[in-house]
Amino acid sequence: GTEEREAAFYAIIDADGRIEPRDDMPEAYRRTLVRQIAQHAHSEIIGMQPEGNWISRAPSLRRKAILLAKVQDEAGHGLYLYAAAETLGVSRDQLLELLHARKQKYSSIFNYPTLTWADVGAIGWLVDGAAITNQVPLTRCSYGPYARAMVRICKEESFHQRQGFEALLTLTRGTPAQKAMAQDALDRWWYPSLAMFGPPDTGEQASGGHTEQSMRWGIKRFTNDELRQRFVDMTVPQSQVLGLTIPDPDLRWNEERGHYDFTPPDYDELFRVIKGDGPCNAQRLAHRVAAHEDGAWVREAAAAYAAKKQEVAA
Ligand code: ACO
Repeated sequence: GTEEREAAFYAIIDADGRIEPRDDMPEAYRRTLVRQIAQHAHSEIIGMQPEGNWISRAPSLRRKAILLAKVQDEAGHGLYLYAAAETLGVSRDQLLELLHARKQKYSSIFNYPTLTWADVGAIGWLVDGAAITNQVPLTRCSYGPYARAMVRICKEESFHQRQGFEALLTLTRGTPAQKAMAQDALDRWWYPSLAMFGPPDTGEQASGGHTEQSMRWGIKRFTNDELRQRFVDMTVPQSQVLGLTIPDPDLRWNEERGHYDFTPPDYDELFRVIKGDGPCNAQRLAHRVAAHEDGAWVREAAAAYAAKKQEVAA
């Protein structure tokens, strides 16, 4: 009966085992995973845009080759994640349709513009740094296909993060104007990066409230605020190596807590951006839909070719 199937599911969860596509799972668990994995996949492919903006303008051939490879990696991450979502009974086409109809979300962070070359460095250092902080625990997520996809993604993200740090280090060791450009990028990307971790755990602005249930299911291993703190603690010493100043006058080491105290991001701004009212939401989605429509002939040609090959084989 249903109760026995649920008991079998929770026995796997409580033993910290992995749920696989053929296992029984509560419908709400499946829906939560589809929601999170789809949002994650959409973030990867929308996230190609802010950096893609700089491919043709990277300051050297070496930087251009690196950036091309990085943006391509992000397309790959999207594909692993859509494939993981497909094991839950949804298709990539369906998920893309939901993205294009604004019925599924993608990360708030990709609705901010990349105004200078230093922004590409800041995205690698801060945005990919935040992504790794959030995603390393997901390698231990209770759903097998998602957890396994995360292993490779995290390895590539960690390379991306170092790439961003190194690009910024080069700027901070350059001319005063280059150093100022790096500082300006940090000033603009710091709070949006903190907001990536989602709404706070407690207080008036705690919203959505998926955390408790997702932790019970072993999907989330830490709360949004725990990961945000971990990110701040990791990033402050790196900013000191760069010789840049994090734009938070209240940032200081708290001996008692063993963590940095910091000013939280403006969550009202996060909610506005999630709702569609960020600086680049309209542009990002319009570009995505146009790229999808422009690519229709490729999908049709690939399907026709596959059908022809099957005919020949039959
Ligand atoms: N941007 C957009 N939406 C967000 C963000 C954000 N930064 N943070 C939270 N939300 C949304 C949630 O999706 C949820 O909305 P929904 O109920 O309509 O789905 C709502 O705000 C409430 O948030 P939570 O209860 O904290 O939601 P959840 O438990 O899903 O946690 C989190 C959010 C931490 C982002 C989680 O989904 C997660 O770990 N996702 C996987 C990582 C990921 O998507 N990374 C993408 C950016 S990094 C990159 O791709 C390079």
